[in-house]
Amino acid sequence: MIAQVTTAGAVPAIEVREVHKRFAGDRKRNGRRKPFIAVNGVSLRVEQGEVFGLLGANGSGKSTLIRLISTLLYPDAGSVSVFGHDVVRDQRTVRRLLNRVSVEASFFKKLSAIENLMYAGRLYNLSGRETRERVVELLTQLGFSKAKIRAPLEELSRGMQQKVAISRALMTRPKLLLLDEPTTGLDPRSKRDVQELIANLHAQHGVTCVLTTHDMDEAERLCDRISIIDRGRIVALGTVEELKAAQDGVQTLEDVFFELVGRAWGDEEDDE
Ligand SMILES: Nc1ncnc2c1ncn2[C@@H]1O[C@H](COP(=O)(O)OP(=O)(O)OP(=O)(O)O)[C@@H](O)[C@H]1O
Ligand SMILES: [Mg+2]
Repeated sequence: MIAQVTTAGAVPAIEVREVHKRFAGDRKRNGRRKPFIAVNGVSLRVEQGEVFGLLGANGSGKSTLIRLISTLLYPDAGSVSVFGHDVVRDQRTVRRLLNRVSVEASFFKKLSAIENLMYAGRLYNLSGRETRERVVELLTQLGFSKAKIRAPLEELSRGMQQKVAISRALMTRPKLLLLDEPTTGLDPRSKRDVQELIANLHAQHGVTCVLTTHDMDEAERLCDRISIIDRGRIVALGTVEELKAAQDGVQTLEDVFFELVGRAWGDEEDDE
């Protein structure tokens, strides 16, 4: 775990109250005809400056929760606020405060990292030398050589492309960064680079981060607190030590996970 720089008593970075989200049955997408409850009465609070982890099996509702926080989806019931601003009523303000990195980030593959990011900068109303310097600094910090910065994205590995996606999210200097599986599919070196970047953002700039991951070591290393989500409900929330202390005879975070979720990764789709 990295040093805690939370601002106790301040307005929370995120407050989720009794949120429900259901999707209409869509056989093509999830093989279900009935409406499906993806988030089922979730409440949680993330303090400013925290790195907060969301763990759960495939399909447990992590990405849906991230999308609810980032204003891409509206809750059916309950409320979400970001630094005190309601995600439905104050959507524009919320969007200025946060940015999200998801696994399905899209880019112009024939253009280079710098070209893609300068283009994104224009969409964010950022431009000029300062933006260019920031982009180069971010990419360099993530291990990009000068040549890689200028190479078409289609020639870069998946890991490098993921780093471009993270750099794009950081361009707007968000106070809250939502990272949906930021290190999935990365080799150990790239994974370490991304983890170090998250740790630095937290330690040096106090950026609040919410991250989802299937990597227990990563969660343990990076997160101040962790919540475990199972079939749309939070089944545990606390520091790694608290989560371990709450279960008898567990050694590792992975033990806690299996104790609470009780199924192999990815088995949830068979449940009805
Ligand atoms: N737009 C949608 N329409 C219909 N069902 C959806 C939609 N988005 C998500 N779901 C369903 O809601 C459930 C939760 O999905 P979600 O993507 O939040 O899971 P997750 O925890 O992020 O899983 P993973 O670890 O695989 O990324 C899944 O069963 C999924 O099929
Ligand atoms: Mg997901």
